[in-house]
Amino acid sequence: MRHRTKTRSIGILTAGGDCPGLNAAIRGVAKAAMHYGIKVTGIQDGFRGLVENRVVPLDDKDVSGILTRGGTELGCSRDKPHKMPMGGKVMDMTAVAVGNMKRLKLDCLVCLGGNGTQKNALHLHKVGRVNVLTLPKTIDNDVAETDLTFGFDSGMAIATEAIDRLHTTATSHHRIIVCEIMGHSAGWLALGAGIAGGADVILIPEIPYDLELVARHLIDRRQHGKRFSIIAVAEGAISKEEAGKNRKKNSDAEVETMIKGVRLVQEPKAHRLARQLQQLTGVEARVTSLGHVQRGGEPTPFDRLLATRLGTAAGALLAKGVLNVMVALRADKCVPVPLAKVGGVKKTVPANHPWVQTARLVSTSLGDQ
Ligand code: F6P
Repeated sequence: MRHRTKTRSIGILTAGGDCPGLNAAIRGVAKAAMHYGIKVTGIQDGFRGLVENRVVPLDDKDVSGILTRGGTELGCSRDKPHKMPMGGKVMDMTAVAVGNMKRLKLDCLVCLGGNGTQKNALHLHKVGRVNVLTLPKTIDNDVAETDLTFGFDSGMAIATEAIDRLHTTATSHHRIIVCEIMGHSAGWLALGAGIAGGADVILIPEIPYDLELVARHLIDRRQHGKRFSIIAVAEGAISKEEAGKNRKKNSDAEVETMIKGVRLVQEPKAHRLARQLQQLTGVEARVTSLGHVQRGGEPTPFDRLLATRLGTAAGALLAKGVLNVMVALRADKCVPVPLAKVGGVKKTVPANHPWVQTARLVSTSLGDQ
């Protein structure tokens, strides 16, 4: 059945880091849009594909059978339209992106992405004066104005399974195991997986830790007959000392610092933490860094459902002509929120969040008390 619709043609792109659930969302947007008679074009490799005009028309069979697949069938990149490396230079390609949208006669660009993508989509709308609509995706769960992002549940499931597995080996060897979890500069993933996996210490960027207090907690556990400990540390976690120095934040494990003109590669955070805790407690410590494993593989049923709900809600909003919004999950409803309220805002873990209290009440140390 063809419907009267205010939007006739859309382009879809996936930008930023990939995550499980992207294909479910592409399928949801495309199928719902087609239901309303909207023409759908796939854009490859995020904003770079728009600039380089790498596009593919999508029909029903192109988006069939992709619901359960990990990654993104469209490919992605971290390129920004206004700061794009082109032939050895970084250039503002906004006008080219907008020109290609016009040439393709796209009424709206649907951008599936995390924080950076929300900001880049808002830039295209404000500066390029084109219509955009976004969906919140990322394992980090740090997009503003939505209760959850798709990809988070899958990342959390992988990290939780890893903590479960580390438990048995840490118990057998009576060791400390430090497990580094992604999340950029937000602690959602480490906190969620840490609670679900029963980590004994959870360190997140929002709550700077005191190394002595962490060591004390590990020693107390030992004195109570618990001879192993699991520490879930977010990649962006910082000590009180580091927070005090107000160091430039950088979540990259291998932070390069300029010291007296010499560039040094710092010891990765989890390794440093394990070494320090081994010294302070006298207990043998090991490190596991989960890295991109957390972004790989099939989405959980929850993420398939969420991505499909957000994607199809986007299709319905496009048909009604509701544009320049992000489709958010709020109190189990998919609702449009103005993109201007999302772009450039990061959702971190508030100190009084119920998960923080939950962790404390099961005797998990957050390194601050
Ligand atoms: O934003 C998702 C994320 O996986 C972060 O948790 C992590 O800091 C970053 O991407 C890693 O990025 P890349 O895949 O570019 O190394």
